[in-house]
Amino acid sequence: MQIALNGRAALITGGSKGLGLAMAKAFAQAGGHVALVARGAEALAAAEAEIRDAAPTAKVAAIAADIRTAAGCEQAFNGAVRALGQVDILVNNAGTSQRGEFLSVSDALWQDDLDLKLFAAIRLCRLALPGMRDRRWGRIINVLNIGAKAPKAGSTPTSVSRAAGMALTKALANEFAPHNVLVNAMLVGIIESDQWVRRHAADKRNITWEEWKAEQGRAVPLGRIGKAEEFAALALLLASDQGGYVTGTAINVDGGASPVV
Ligand SMILES: NC(=O)c1ccc[n+]([C@@H]2O[C@H](COP(=O)([O-])OP(=O)(O)OC[C@H]3O[C@@H](n4cnc5c(N)ncnc54)[C@H](OP(=O)(O)O)[C@@H]3O)[C@@H](O)[C@H]2O)c1
Repeated sequence: MQIALNGRAALITGGSKGLGLAMAKAFAQAGGHVALVARGAEALAAAEAEIRDAAPTAKVAAIAADIRTAAGCEQAFNGAVRALGQVDILVNNAGTSQRGEFLSVSDALWQDDLDLKLFAAIRLCRLALPGMRDRRWGRIINVLNIGAKAPKAGSTPTSVSRAAGMALTKALANEFAPHNVLVNAMLVGIIESDQWVRRHAADKRNITWEEWKAEQGRAVPLGRIGKAEEFAALALLLASDQGGYVTGTAINVDGGASPVV
């Protein structure tokens, strides 16, 4: 079976790096068109070039926007529509890891986390859903974290923002299923990305990237951390016609790490 996107247009937040870039590349190689959204212009340009190389016939747009505000979300959505004509697939992926002891997390940090991980998804869904509903075809993928189902000590604010993202996923899946708009969440454990490259670089122990990855993967049942391409493969299925009977679910993509299904 060949999974194909047949010219569908995807808006991917956080598309300049890591999991977002891997998804954008997979979607473009499967015959989709992609709009990448992030703040940093340099990484966006590099990602755009990488995707054009990998999928020369795909339309690729790079949109610099900070999606923590309503204006930033509008800029991202309008830019994607200008470049691609419409948005058939929305991937709410942009995020950062914000966690700490509950008593040390300020209101400002809570607000920032909710703005990026919850409100951006709410606002972009509100912008994208009318078109998807009217065309009777749409896919929304919310990239979350396994802490959404199984929050650990010291995991706020991120686990709380992610749990809200899971509720948003289910509510929208139920509300828009009659319009053939499918909404799912993917819950990440540890998957290789720019985020982990930065963490390795900040580690003072002078160990290699391979040693560092092996160490991170030791506690994972599959014995290793994931690859961005493995994550992108599942996202592609959910974004395609072939994924047409899956909605309202939150899938762990974590090598078995989550203690709950
Ligand atoms: N990889 C993992 O193991 C893991 C684990 C748990 C959850 N996740 C989640 O999975 C998603 C992707 O993670 P990743 O590891 O691929 O991260 P990454 O390599 O750090 O990439 C994050 C992307 O989000 C963009 N971004 C961040 N803040 C933004 C903002 N305010 N507005 C627009 N774009 C913004 C970044 O670009 P700019 O900085 O240039 O804006 C970048 O393109 C995130 O939501 C992350 O929390 C990942």
